Amino acid sequence: MHPSLFLAALCLGIASAAPQVDPNLDAQWFQWKLILKRHKDEGWRRAVWETNLKMIEQHNREYNQGKHSFTMAMNGFGDMTNDEFRHTMNGLKIQKGKNGKVFQIPSFVGISVPVDRREMGRCASGWAFSATGALEGQMFRKTGKRVSLSVQNLLDCSWPQGNEGCNGGLMSNAFQYVKNNGGLDTEESYPYVARDGPCKYRPEHSAANVTAFENIPQQEEALMMAVANMGPISAAIDASLDTFRFYKEGIYYDPKCSSEDLNHGVLVVGYGFQGKESDNQKYWFVKNSWGADWGMDGYIKMAKDRDNHCGIATMASFPIV
Ligand SMILES: *[C@@H]1O[C@H](CO)[C@@H](O)[C@H](O)[C@H]1NC(C)=O
Repeated sequence: MHPSLFLAALCLGIASAAPQVDPNLDAQWFQWKLILKRHKDEGWRRAVWETNLKMIEQHNREYNQGKHSFTMAMNGFGDMTNDEFRHTMNGLKIQKGKNGKVFQIPSFVGISVPVDRREMGRCASGWAFSATGALEGQMFRKTGKRVSLSVQNLLDCSWPQGNEGCNGGLMSNAFQYVKNNGGLDTEESYPYVARDGPCKYRPEHSAANVTAFENIPQQEEALMMAVANMGPISAAIDASLDTFRFYKEGIYYDPKCSSEDLNHGVLVVGYGFQGKESDNQKYWFVKNSWGADWGMDGYIKMAKDRDNHCGIATMASFPIV
């Protein structure tokens, strides 16, 4: 059954009877719960997990038949319906007026990121991870030093720039904050706790500055030049599909992925191709913030030069330090 249909059934009260589950999957279910430290034992969670598992297995069978370019795997999002997963992303729209002309920036970006992988679905901070990643890259180019910057500093302190902490935000607003603030603390001095709190910025712990930021023209060619010449670039993508949620490895391509409905902040760290020269499959190498058991050690290869797939070039930017 489709997950959203399943939820609709729940709303009608059909779920008061325990949903049908496959006893052959008991061991796998208990193991998954053990690893993820999930204690809740609602029957319908099990049914959602099973639906997801079957979808993943079906996708991988199709992969073996050559129908897909990537595989999927069960992970810590496994007991969420797609609706729940989407709701952990922020759908807020912000509008900026300029000379009376109103144009719309895509939705806030920042799907929930776990403190660790057992705590999925708490804080929509993808935007802040993307911004610190891009800024770390530029600081490294400038100073030759690798210093982790504070995601929590951005979550707690960039509200005046229009961000909303664990509800979501935009990377450009984050860069604007660092510029206005005259600094950003190190991760070590201001660690990530994945919930909203008061701003505790301490200038003596700052390790970065931003003088300006650059929005990259909405073309993959321009994004490629930026990655090649500047290093890691912040980008917003559509990460709402189940194929993305359970991505494991290969080159991610899903015809349903949107180039306009952006909901998640990531970091483009490189690009490449694989396969024979006549049939080379180009990809962006992208760092996500969902922990090392998602995707390829936390990274994903996303289809490149296929019509701005998932909007990778729609809202890319980097800070100038
Ligand atoms: C950032 O800029 C401020 C103001 O110019 C300066 O005092 C501070 O030392 C700079 N911080 C870093 C980490 O470069």
